[in-house]
Amino acid sequence: MPCTVIVGGFWGDEGKGKIVSYLALKDKVDVCVRTGSVNAAHTVWVEGKRYALHMVPSAFVCEKCRLLIGAGANIHVAKFLEEVELTNVKNRIGVDYQASIIEEKHSEQDRTSAHLKGLGTTGWGVGPAIEERVRRTAKLAKDVAELKPYLTDVAAEANKAIDAGKKVLLEGTQGVMLSLFYGTYPYVTGRDTSAAAICSEAGVGPTKVDEVLIVFKSFMTRVGAGPLPGELPKEEAIKRGWFEVAAGTGRERRSAPFNFEIAKRAVMLNGATQIALTKLDVVYPQCKGARKYDELTSEAKEFIKEIERQLGIPVVLIGTGQEVHDIVDRRT
Ligand code: IMP
Ligand code: MG
Repeated sequence: MPCTVIVGGFWGDEGKGKIVSYLALKDKVDVCVRTGSVNAAHTVWVEGKRYALHMVPSAFVCEKCRLLIGAGANIHVAKFLEEVELTNVKNRIGVDYQASIIEEKHSEQDRTSAHLKGLGTTGWGVGPAIEERVRRTAKLAKDVAELKPYLTDVAAEANKAIDAGKKVLLEGTQGVMLSLFYGTYPYVTGRDTSAAAICSEAGVGPTKVDEVLIVFKSFMTRVGAGPLPGELPKEEAIKRGWFEVAAGTGRERRSAPFNFEIAKRAVMLNGATQIALTKLDVVYPQCKGARKYDELTSEAKEFIKEIERQLGIPVVLIGTGQEVHDIVDRRT
């Protein structure tokens, strides 16, 4: 804080929703800007209730937090309105005038375009929506009547908050290994997903950022096609308890052990300063529900020390369960 970028270190689904929601409640975050689009689902568990949010920032759990969606984002209008209702944030959410709109035709293009065949996209149409934006023919948020009550200048709001010393989170989506520029092209999403791109989509310059918090899961997963080093057969993933099904699409996730070389590259690409490590309890079940570092097993502590040794930055948050407060917070 005051301005922290939250970025995924692998292929998305690292648990960014959990980390953002925890920080929002714990640090009483003033402003949270979500970037990206509807293809990402961020899971938040609060008071026994599960949310899988495609549009609304995960910081909605903090009732005073101003929620924003940046100019670089792509808005799915129906999903946005549905989630605003679900999370009851009508009076505190804003959308940038210049965010572009993702429409049903884009989703259809995603599902039927020959050049996208075999990539295993989410089918929401994010790639085609961005193509249209690049062609300069896209519909923008300011052109949509239903979005009128929410329109704002997100860059101006975010920068004003930062300059006033308020706490601001920039919530990235997916992970850097799905980046259009740095990921495993062509098995990538339609945009850059790195910390610099998150800033750009929110309208916040690099000198305004204090911390880049990179989120790694304690093992790696990937949905859709493309390389996954160390990939385990499904039976082995099930045996280890690592087998997951995607929050957004219901697709099965492939899994592999934590890879230090990939993690090092992710830290470099994002200029990361801190690490949040999620799902430690999935790899080390005795750590489930731990909220103090001393409650972790020595094997789990060794894993954390090895991460810090190899990546050279501190592991400040450790996820030990699905609930928003199932976390070891080493910042204090
Ligand atoms: P698209 O982003 O829908 O174009 O899909 C391109 C690739 O990114 C596919 O491999 C998707 O599975 C992956 N992808 C897109 N969004 C997410 C996400 O939120 N989590 C994990 N993978 C994603
Ligand atoms: Mg997800």
